[in-house]
Amino acid sequence: MATHPPAPPSSASPANVLSGHGASPFRRTATALFDRLLPGRRVRRAFRVQAEHCDKMGSPFTALLCRLAAHRLDAGAAVGATVLGWPSHPGNDALPLRFAGALHALVLSGRAPALAGLYPPHPLPRPDQLWSAVLATMAAETDFIQRTLRSPPQTNEVGRSAILLGGFLAIAAATRLPFVLSEIGASAGLNMFWDRFAYDLGGTKWGDGASPVRLAPRWTGKLPPLDAPVEVAARAGCDLNRLNAADPKDRLRLLSYVWADQPERIARLRAALDLAGADPPDIAAADAADWLESRLGQQTEATVHVVYHTIVWQYLPAATRARLTDSIQARGRAATRTRPLAWLRFEADGKAPGGALTLTLWPGGATRTLARADYHGSWVDWAG
Ligand SMILES: C[S@@+](CC[C@H](N)C(=O)[O-])C[C@H]1O[C@@H](n2cnc3c(N)ncnc32)[C@H](O)[C@@H]1O
Repeated sequence: MATHPPAPPSSASPANVLSGHGASPFRRTATALFDRLLPGRRVRRAFRVQAEHCDKMGSPFTALLCRLAAHRLDAGAAVGATVLGWPSHPGNDALPLRFAGALHALVLSGRAPALAGLYPPHPLPRPDQLWSAVLATMAAETDFIQRTLRSPPQTNEVGRSAILLGGFLAIAAATRLPFVLSEIGASAGLNMFWDRFAYDLGGTKWGDGASPVRLAPRWTGKLPPLDAPVEVAARAGCDLNRLNAADPKDRLRLLSYVWADQPERIARLRAALDLAGADPPDIAAADAADWLESRLGQQTEATVHVVYHTIVWQYLPAATRARLTDSIQARGRAATRTRPLAWLRFEADGKAPGGALTLTLWPGGATRTLARADYHGSWVDWAG
């Protein structure tokens, strides 16, 4: 299984849009037929769809890059041939993000100075100018780009802590117990440090005001219970492909998949990587279901065990989801008031806008949608 199958909403569109789910059965069949007859057609479409999402999510530069690739990639050169001849589903494989990430990595690492001269923070370049620099870079860095295309994008969006925060506060208010935190799909573990960041929720502050990581989402609706007593007794996470915030290669990897014209996200990511690099989080290199089954057995009295995840569920095979759900529910049935369990998750739910922050709390097992929020945490609409 690819670690990142569908185009991640972390920096892209929901997979069902890219894969054409939601269209009529007739349209889907016709589309599949044309795709077979005209190789490269669905790749170009995936780039166009990605461009639309970049427009909507505030990345005109990446939108331009994807549109240019959609129209001008040609199979005469090695990279063009690889991209246009992509053997599996380009949308599900987040191919446009792989392509944009490869170029951004070259820019960030100083290997493509001519291209860097056209990248943000420079003004949006003329399309012809950008495409000639992209062509030159593809020719000069064919091996690097081909290698990068082969691996799925990996992100760790620290803005999601601003979405989770309200959920953690709701759990603290309801249980008044210290937390044992378990994050599945933690990537580099940046959202394991959610309680060390500075928050500004529509003018109201929470957290460590001196933190270099500052999160200020546009907040609508009421505020979560900001005075709830938050204490973290233990924290750990797991990821099939854990990244090390202190490793330059892993840092470049994470930075390269942030869109180049979103400097505030890049700065925030760098600050969070520095924080995690200096105090490495405890992340097991493990499958979520295996790891959680064993961790759920370890809880001590007088703590609330909080299992949480953000934009992970869509990447898990059905069998893994079922195992996770079963083990969480089994532990939930054994929960007591002094040994409660919380399941907090921010995931795509097929609705719009954004994704849903959902909380299930045991004993009782009541489930509530606490908020809807943008995938990068730029806005939160709190329903509490
Ligand atoms: C889109 S990223 C989200 C990362 C992080 N939760 C965030 O919101 O920034 C999905 C993460 O899930 C991890 N993942 C995918 N399948 C997994 C599995 N079976 N067990 C553990 N982690 C997995 C990936 O390696 C990746 O780091």
